[in-house]
Amino acid sequence: MKKPTKGPATSLNRTIPVAKMDRDIAALELADLASEIAAHRAAYYQADAPVITDAAFDALEKRNAAIEKRFPDLIRPDGPSKSVGAQAAAGFRKVKHAVPMLSLDNAFSEEDVREFDARIRRFLGLSEDEKIEFTAEPKIDGLSFSALYEHGRLVIAATRGDGSEGEDITANIKTIKQMPDMLMGDAPKVVEIRGEVYMDKADFAAMNEAQAAKGAKTFANPRNAAGGALRQLDPKITASRPLKMFAYAWGAADKTPWETQWEYLQQLKRWGFPVSPQSKLCKSVDDVLKVYAALNEDRADLPFDIDGVVYKVNRLDWQRRLGFVSRAPRWGIAHKFAAERAQTVLEHIEIQVGRTGKLTPVAHLKAVNVGGVSVTRSTLHNEDEIERKDVRIGDTVVIQRAGDVIPQVVEVVDADSAAHKKRPKFKFPDRCPICDSRVVREEGEVAKRCTGGLFCEAQAVERLRHFTSRDAFDIEGLGEERLQMFFAEGLIKDPADIFSLEKHRAKLESFEGWGQKSIDNLFTAIERRRTIPFEKFIYALGIPQVGQATARLLAQHYGDFKTWRKATVAASKGDDEARAELTSIDSIGPATADDIVGFFGEKHNLEILDRLEEALTIEDFLRADTTNSPIAGQTVVFTGTLVRMSRNEAKAKAQALGAKVAGSVSKKTDLVVAGPGAGSKLKEAEALGVKVIDEDAYLKLIGA
Ligand code: IVH
Repeated sequence: MKKPTKGPATSLNRTIPVAKMDRDIAALELADLASEIAAHRAAYYQADAPVITDAAFDALEKRNAAIEKRFPDLIRPDGPSKSVGAQAAAGFRKVKHAVPMLSLDNAFSEEDVREFDARIRRFLGLSEDEKIEFTAEPKIDGLSFSALYEHGRLVIAATRGDGSEGEDITANIKTIKQMPDMLMGDAPKVVEIRGEVYMDKADFAAMNEAQAAKGAKTFANPRNAAGGALRQLDPKITASRPLKMFAYAWGAADKTPWETQWEYLQQLKRWGFPVSPQSKLCKSVDDVLKVYAALNEDRADLPFDIDGVVYKVNRLDWQRRLGFVSRAPRWGIAHKFAAERAQTVLEHIEIQVGRTGKLTPVAHLKAVNVGGVSVTRSTLHNEDEIERKDVRIGDTVVIQRAGDVIPQVVEVVDADSAAHKKRPKFKFPDRCPICDSRVVREEGEVAKRCTGGLFCEAQAVERLRHFTSRDAFDIEGLGEERLQMFFAEGLIKDPADIFSLEKHRAKLESFEGWGQKSIDNLFTAIERRRTIPFEKFIYALGIPQVGQATARLLAQHYGDFKTWRKATVAASKGDDEARAELTSIDSIGPATADDIVGFFGEKHNLEILDRLEEALTIEDFLRADTTNSPIAGQTVVFTGTLVRMSRNEAKAKAQALGAKVAGSVSKKTDLVVAGPGAGSKLKEAEALGVKVIDEDAYLKLIGA
């Protein structure tokens, strides 16, 4: 790579006294000073953002002048003494590579690789039994770079570009922490280090998520993201992106004391460069194929994307003899993995409903071969993803298979085309495609959920399993396997069917292997559960976010099923007070309230509840004996700091005395116990005229 005429910001550690400098060093340093001073002028004059102090800048100019004075014939036409201010800032400068950056031929099969080995033997005149060692290095799917080090210091770095001319990315590459500014140990006068800049898969995912969260551009894959980051005109943006690098080759070098590629890789490590740890030295072509098979197997688990394995003849004397054919060396080859991406047409988007009611959009694709597997389906994740990628039916899309993972739609091909824009945008349904119940999306969640919990066939078996489980109805002999079977036979479709299973006794008796005894046992188990405590009943309904603790709170607050049902149905019809009552219960937030109200807002669920009520005795919530309690039936709110008891203790005691403990003050509040520091709740109580007492008065009231 030759130095550009206008240089970048570098920071040579200028230690050699000018008086002791030889011509070569002087020339290098003048070139370097020219570029650095130009960059500082640009920062100062154009960007209004100087990066060094005025004194440091003056020192650079002074040193430049001193060198020019000693070697007047080396004064550069682009030197700082010949130019003032800075040139207009443009995009990236072009950099010509002194040694072109070539590419590699590809091998797609074992046969291709064996032919590569045979070709080398023919060319070098080696016999069958002469050993050829190869290095096998993962082919990192990133962007290649070439970085020039002079006297151990990074001077300029460029992209590959068209192979003979790339773009100056010095400032950007310097932001990569792994990229040494200075070589460690013995540094040659000149060496161009070549390698790959990439982004880890996990870093990519996190970055994309963060970008999406702030509404910024997201990238289709780590390679594109790395490319985008490296080609930022503002290196501060590059610095904020999680880029990494590996080194694996060299370009220009004043000497190459290493005798093999493997030795060179070790030298890279000594200089301080990361070398991909999966690189192996292989004794033969059979060995490289083993490395290939192993990497192909593990590639999904590697932290970064690789698209093949690069084999290089290890001996450099052989490499030199082998040389190049047109744009690629004879001594190396890239053994590619089967393509894991393909393009095809999106024919239809199906909405699948999972066991828990989650709606997942699935792309139906025109069959296409991806890495040897025919793919016709692919996940689209959720509503936001469809929106983000703007996937429309009829589009040609890129799909990707990563290891065993379900194929994914990566992006739309030609998203700017008129054809794409003419297609209607996909509208995510607001009704469940299975049961036609309403579909909701809770705050902060990406998934949409069907509200037809008890009714929806997609969720039926999961709901039934929950309904009959130990902490709910606890019906012995009605485990998942039997429920599956009864469901498939049409005997139990929803929880209410369990209590009329008796009418299918004849059918049960006809099942193979079902004796009279096991059938009797099952019916006895069902009969035993016709009476159920209210809180267990609530829990059994399987309303999202309503676990045992919440079920108990609800039971305690509403006391009996009819009261709860009435209040919650009212809330689902827009009764604000009924809803406020629900959220006033300690630990029931708006999201849980939405789920409860959503459940009661669905008429299919109500029909099943009617049948359950008819078949069952739902016991009222068992309250403690509170005949002598001064606060029985009252709604109490605690606020401020309690001194003589903890908040939990106070709550438990109040509940034991038959009171309801609420988290917020409303018209229904009977009593507010306010400690020091009470704020808005106290004000609210005063505004509503609710009785307020302090902790001592409260303790006296309850006789504690
Ligand atoms: S050596 C003269 N080694 O693959 C060939 N390349 O198709 C010099 N690549 O442009 C390249 N990992 O971007 C080499 N371990 C590795 C590599 C590697 C990835 C990329 C590189 C190059 C392309 C060649």
